Amino acid sequence: MEVLILGSAAGGGFPQWNCNCPNCRGVRQGRAGLSPRTQSSIAISMDGERWLLCNASPDIRAQLNAHPTLFPKRGLRDSGIAEVLLVDAQIDHVSGLLSLREGCPLDVWCTASVHDDLTGGFPLFPMLEHWNGGLSWREIALSSDRDCCTFEVPSCPGLAITALSLHSNAPPYSPRRGSPAPGDNLGLLFRDTLTGGSLFYGPGLGEPSDEARALMVEASCVLVDGTLWHDDEMSRLGIADTTGREMGHLPLAGEGGMIEELDALPSGTRRVLIHINNTNPILDETSAERAVLKEHAIEVAHDGMHFSL
Ligand code: MLT
Ligand code: MN
Ligand code: ZN
Repeated sequence: MEVLILGSAAGGGFPQWNCNCPNCRGVRQGRAGLSPRTQSSIAISMDGERWLLCNASPDIRAQLNAHPTLFPKRGLRDSGIAEVLLVDAQIDHVSGLLSLREGCPLDVWCTASVHDDLTGGFPLFPMLEHWNGGLSWREIALSSDRDCCTFEVPSCPGLAITALSLHSNAPPYSPRRGSPAPGDNLGLLFRDTLTGGSLFYGPGLGEPSDEARALMVEASCVLVDGTLWHDDEMSRLGIADTTGREMGHLPLAGEGGMIEELDALPSGTRRVLIHINNTNPILDETSAERAVLKEHAIEVAHDGMHFSL
C-alpha cells in the first residue's frame, strides 16, 4: 500500500490566513525551521494509479496539482482519485468535494451520521446533485454493537479497511456538536492483505477507547491526531477559549496525552502526527517540543510525505 500525505495541517492550514501567532508570522517571514502546510488529507493506493482520497480538504486543488501521480492520464477527463472516504463531516475534511464537482459522479464513503450532516447543516450531497449525478453515497455501516466494520473499496483490491467510531466531536455546525453519536468520527485501519503492512489513521481522536488502542497496536504505522501540544494552547495564545479536548482533539503533552498513548505502542510501530494546528510549537523544527518528540521516536507529517507499507 502506498500512502501519500496531501495535507498535514489542521483546519486553517499553516499559515492560517488571518492568524498572526508566532508560528504563522514566522512562516510568512520565511523563518528557518518552519514550512507551510495545507489542510488535512491523505491518499492511499494499492497500485500507485488508482487512489482513495481520505478527506477532501479546501486545499484539494493545490494538493492534486502538486502530485503527478494524481494527474489525469487515461482520457480527456480523468484523475488519479478514484473515490473518496470521509472520516467526519468537518469543514477541513469535506469542503474540497465542492472543488471535485467537475468529476461527478463520484463515490463517497462515509457513515450515516456524516451523510446526515452533509445533507442537513452542510448540504453537499443535495447541492452536488446538480453536477452530473453528484456524489454517490457508499455507506460505511458500523455494527450497532461494536461501532465498527470492515470493508473493501473497488479501487483498492486487497486493502481491508476497518472503520471504528472514535470519541471526538461533531462539527461546529452539526446538531450533534458537544454530544457526538457513533459514526461522527472514524479511525481507520488500512491493512494490505498482500504485504501485511497496515496504517491506522485518526486525525480527530479526542479520547482513545480500548477498541481504538487495539487497532493502533495492530498497525505497523499510526498517523494520528497531533492538533495541539497543550489542551489550552489557544487560550494561552489569547486566540480562543476552546480546549483541544472540547474540539475532540487529544493534546500531545501531559498526563493521558497523545505522547503517552504512543509510548504504549509496540516498539516497532512507526508513529507519525498529522492534522497539526498552526499554533502547535512542534511545527518549528528547532523547538524544544520537537526535540521531545524525537526522544519519543515520533515524527511530524509534512505535505508530500510518502510511505509504502
Ligand atoms: C476540527 O478538526 O476540530 C475542525 O477542523 C475545526 C474547524 O472546522 O474549525
Ligand atoms: Mn479539523
Ligand atoms: Zn497561527
